[in-house]
Order: sequence, then C-alpha cells, then structure tokens
Amino acid sequence: MILIVGCGYLGETLADDLHGRGHQVLGVTHSAESAGRLSETKPWRAIACDISDGAAVSKLGNEPVKTVIHCASSSRGGPDAYRRVFLEGLNHLRETFPSAHLLFTSSTSVYTQVDGSLVDEDTPCQPQRETGRILQEAEQFVLAQNGTVARLAGIYGPERSVVLKNLLLKEAKIEGNDGQGRLLNQIHRDDAVSAIRLLVEDRVSGVFNVVDSTAQTQRELYTLLAAKFNAPMPPVAEPNHERKRPYTHKAVSNNKLRALGWRPEYPGYMDAIDRDPLLASSILQQCLDASGSIPRAPNIVVIGLMGCGKSTVGRLVAQKIGFQVVDTDHLVSDTAHQSIPAIFQREGEVGFRKRETAALLSLLGKRGHVIATGGGIVTQPHNLPLLKHLGYVVWLNAEPSTLAKRTSSSNDRPLLQNEDPEAKLRALLDVRGPLYRKLADLRIRTDDLSPQETAYGIAESARLHFCT
Ligand code: S3P
Repeated sequence: MILIVGCGYLGETLADDLHGRGHQVLGVTHSAESAGRLSETKPWRAIACDISDGAAVSKLGNEPVKTVIHCASSSRGGPDAYRRVFLEGLNHLRETFPSAHLLFTSSTSVYTQVDGSLVDEDTPCQPQRETGRILQEAEQFVLAQNGTVARLAGIYGPERSVVLKNLLLKEAKIEGNDGQGRLLNQIHRDDAVSAIRLLVEDRVSGVFNVVDSTAQTQRELYTLLAAKFNAPMPPVAEPNHERKRPYTHKAVSNNKLRALGWRPEYPGYMDAIDRDPLLASSILQQCLDASGSIPRAPNIVVIGLMGCGKSTVGRLVAQKIGFQVVDTDHLVSDTAHQSIPAIFQREGEVGFRKRETAALLSLLGKRGHVIATGGGIVTQPHNLPLLKHLGYVVWLNAEPSTLAKRTSSSNDRPLLQNEDPEAKLRALLDVRGPLYRKLADLRIRTDDLSPQETAYGIAESARLHFCT
C-alpha cells in the first residue's frame, strides 16, 4: 500500500495515477471535509489525519503501508507550520511505519543562487530563511532513513499557472537580471507525477530535482506567451524580496532524473501550452471569472450548426477584409490524414473531439484569420474560453428546416446520417443553442440572407469591434 500524505493539487493526481496503475492507495488529508469529498468521488480511500499529532498517526499503524509519500504543504504558513507539517509529520510517519520507503516532496527553492548558475543535486544549499532551513532539515531526516527527496520546481497544470494567469491579468513583472528577469524553473503536474511514480516504484533513494528541461528567463517565456495570447509584455521591476519564496535566479538540472529514464511529457512550458488541452483553457476561464475580460486575438470565429454557412460565409468575409481562412474541420482531417467520417468511425466522437481541441490550440497566436469551426465545437466546455480568446465570435443561426435543406446533398457529416436529419438538427439546436448564444458577440439569422449579405454584416461589425 502507498500512503499519500497531502491530497492537494499534486497528491490527488498522484493518488489517481498510482491507483490507476494497480497500486493500493490510501490518501491522507488534513481536513475531514477534503477526506469526505475524496471518499465520495474517488475509487481510492481517503481519511483525515493531522500528521503533527503523533497519536493520530499511530492509529494508522495497522495499515499495510510499504511506501509513504509526504506531499503535504505548509498551507502558506511560517516556520511553526513548517516544523509541524514537515519535521514532526515526517517523524511521526517514520515512527508508525519504520520499514516503509519514505519519499518527501521538497522544493527547488532550497537552491538560493541569484547568479543564473546551473545547479544540480550536488550543489550546496545554504538557505538563509528559517523556513528554508527547516525544509533542509526535513530533507536530511529523510535521507538518513535511506529515503527519497524529490525537489519540485514550480508546479503548474490545469487550473494552476501563476505565470500565465499573471500575464493575462496584467499583474506579471520581469524581475531583475538586467531586465531579462529571473530564470523560471517549472514542472507540469503530470510530469511531477510520473517522476514520483518512477522513484517510488523503483525505490530509488537520494535527492532528485523534478523540473522540466527548459529553464527560461521571464523575458524569454513572456515574449513567447505574449505573442501566443495577444497580451502586452509585462513591465520590468526590481526583484521583490518580500515574497514568501526569496528571489532566486538559477537553472535547475534534471540530468539525474533523466539518467533513470524519466522523460517529461512537456519538456518546456510552451509544449504544455500547445498540447495540454486544459492548461490555457482553464487559466483563460479563471481570468474571465476574476476580471471579466481576457485578451482577444484579432480574428473572427464563426460558430453555428452544420449547414449554417460557416465555411462559405467565412471565405467571403475573409475576402472582404483581407483575412486568411482556416477551418477546424480541415485542420483535423489534414493532421489525421483521414476524412471526418473515417475519424468518427475509427475513434468515435470522443477521438474526434480531442483532435478538434488540438486544432483549436494550434490556432493560438494567429492573427488576421477567419476561423470557421465545426458545429459541435461548443460541446466541450474547455473549448469555450479558447474560442472566446481566439477572436470576435459570430453565431450563424437558421431554422432546422433550412439547415436540413442545406446539408441534404452531402453525406460527410456522421451526425446527420440517419432517417430524420431535421429532427436531429432540432435536437442539436436545443442543446447547443444556449452555448452558441452565450459565446457569441454577434448573432445572425441567415434563413433569408444570401451568403454575401451575411458576410457583409459580419465584416462591418467586425470592423467596429476591432476599432474599439
Ligand atoms: C459536427 C459538425 C461538423 C464536423 C463533425 C461534427 C457537429 O462540422 O465537425 O461532423 O457535431 O455538429 P460542420 O458544422 O462544419 O459541418
């Protein structure tokens, strides 16, 4: 059994992963509320226990625990919280499970270098703050037990990315290093999980940095992100020494972990922006929730049911205003080298939807395009913030009878290959209508309009939108 102490952002995913790979997992949380929520929703067990309370931990002693993973956080506390959660917690876990393999998730913040140097596990750490010294003491305790210390870089992933969120909310700063900003060392949550899995499954002891392969300065990363998200570059600022974590500037090496065969799925942050279907989308949504606005790219996004004229009208709009046209259905079939009916047949609608989201992600950073989308793109909640960000959103609507007429001559739409396409279109409109409506900046009823007339309307209102 693997005991996972701390089921927060990392611990919960780690528990899911290890359980999914056949390990028996017991999750420990600090609050009874979290344990209750996890017990209700997860296929693995979760219980509440305050690990700073030795008697409480000893009650877990009859569980057949072979591995203990300590990934509880100090909940932003100061030295006292650090001592309780890390030092006392580890001591109590060791007393209760004397022969278990102990893995402790520490932090690359133990490297306090400010000179941009490359650091590895042999580089001495001399933490100046008390919290840093406590972390180091906890590491030494674990190493003395022949355990494993995983020094994690800044964890990001779906719902959590300080770098992107701060950029989009215009709260980011480029700190120090002659205007280049400090080096950022990050790790995607899923890669942290795969690293910890490897360390516990192979029972490797010692210290390992868990960091991706691309240390970048703030300027380097923000330059790429600003272009991708049509956002302004953050201003330069003096390093903030009031932060909970002291200012550091160093490149953390992952060579030791890679020598064990570990390879990150996302070697750099931009790889995750390009390929993680939830990263950009969830952070855009958080920014929308927090501030009501996000940067919008200078494109026109056309949405609506099959047959509403997205591609035809899209082409005409593009001609009128000198934009290029791109069609998500074409992107999907081009990258898959298969027609859409073939993808539906081989991979089901689920496979098609994954490819459609990937197509949408590939459009981040584009400008001056009319983006025609597949009618079902709004059915995936994570596509919605992406669509909103990608441009001025236009919904072409029409009566199901009109749509049925317009689509009757082609048989390349798997969802309409049935007895009564009009009824299917009506049912789809019932479900998707509210989604189109919510997303759209402009709504046009096209039943009685020619494609030219519709395109004229779109071009004129887009011009206005881009001017303001
Ligand atoms: C679909 C619409 C199609 C295509 C796929 C699924 C849908 O695109 O993406 O057949 O779910 O409505 P068009 O709307 O361009 O026909």
